[in-house]
Amino acid sequence: MEKLIVHGGARLEGAVNISGSKNASLPILAATLLTREKCIVRRVPDVSDTNYMLQILQNLGAAVERASGTVTVEPADIKSAEAPYDLVRKMRASVCVMGPLLARKREAIVSLPGGCVIGDRPVDLHLRGLEALGATVETKGGNVYLAAPKGLRGREVDMRGKHGTTVLGTDNVMMAAVLAKGTTVIEGAACEPEVIDLANFLNKMGAKISGAGTSRVEIEGVKELGGVDHTVIPDRIEAGTFLVAGAMAARDKITLRRVDADHLTAVIDALTACGVPIERIGKTGLTVGRATNPIGANIVTEPYPHFPTDMQAQMCALFAVTPGLSVVRDTIFPRRFMHCAEMKRMGADIEVDDGTAVIHGVESLSAAPVMASDLRASAALVLAGLRATDNTEINRVYHIDRGYEHIDDKLIGLGAEIERLPA
Ligand code: EPZ
Repeated sequence: MEKLIVHGGARLEGAVNISGSKNASLPILAATLLTREKCIVRRVPDVSDTNYMLQILQNLGAAVERASGTVTVEPADIKSAEAPYDLVRKMRASVCVMGPLLARKREAIVSLPGGCVIGDRPVDLHLRGLEALGATVETKGGNVYLAAPKGLRGREVDMRGKHGTTVLGTDNVMMAAVLAKGTTVIEGAACEPEVIDLANFLNKMGAKISGAGTSRVEIEGVKELGGVDHTVIPDRIEAGTFLVAGAMAARDKITLRRVDADHLTAVIDALTACGVPIERIGKTGLTVGRATNPIGANIVTEPYPHFPTDMQAQMCALFAVTPGLSVVRDTIFPRRFMHCAEMKRMGADIEVDDGTAVIHGVESLSAAPVMASDLRASAALVLAGLRATDNTEINRVYHIDRGYEHIDDKLIGLGAEIERLPA
């Protein structure tokens, strides 16, 4: 285990290159199971989640090679249809192999993902969607057994649940439908950019998908899919995290490179409303600085294109040191506030109740040993440490490494003082 020591009083300057999207890479890597031909996926971030997905593909029989950000998958010989518990339990997003395995092998055995600190992570909508396409579904011994011995057939499927739609559920049904007989219509599809990136990847393989990015996606089944060379989109949540880092600790301003600002509209609008100066630089750059007159705001997380739940913890860190009152409500994961208890150890004035955090900004935070809990909460604690007096020790840093490619090195490159030490 490792820990980070974040020195307070950082003054960030310079530029940072944003990595490719973890949340686009994971379903796209799973989609390589849908062909026997070689697939090349570029800008795959070197984080533990993508490395777990590569292990799962290898476990299923694919040959996998990674050369820095470029992953080559040779999926000709997929022997197994089982994604084992010891891998799935480490990375819940492994559930997105269900759809491609069902389409390729006409069966799939996938361990039920455990819950995690941001909430229980059900897959009922995934299973309902795959059942609608003709799969039989049985859960026993902690596994889900799906089978479609005669293949899948196109149907109209509604992916909405009580918390709105499902990103990976939409991905699973889309990947199952591309080789089904007939046409599938997904109503209530997730509209995230990562879903669009997956649809673009599948269409490059020869799929016939239209409407990705809207709540109604149509997939006309085809006989087979071919290999592809694809570059994943920039990671909008990593970019958003660095926007908040700049808003909290820039000397004057910092520059983000290799971003797609169109994927960050809700985050940019929220930060701008707080007085944070953000400017677009060409098609792939953004600059961000500290607000001259920072003010708090009300944030409600909702499915894309609204404010993303994956940026909620980072905003709590900003609001913890923003004068006045701010309110953050997470409608997607109402229990996703572990970071607030840790920030209170650092002197933040936050009350959490019923899926909502009420935050009164303080002048500065004080260093304290804190515990990382989930991916985005951990990043938020690093941001808080930048604004604390003295040095903040963040334990269980493996949570951060799941989804951020060398975040400490990138912050050090911007002038932060951070050490990574054995815990
Ligand atoms: C994706 O998870 C992201 N992960 C999450 O990012 C992100 O927080 C989430 O979407 C919401 O935007 C990846 O893309 C790998 P959901 P996903 O299914 O697809 C409920 C990160 O930090 N639900 O869209 O698993 C669910 O409980 C991660 O990078 C059901 O009820 O999330 C939640 O309340 C964390 N039944 C809501 O829907 C289901 O079958 C949205 O979940 C599925 C989901």
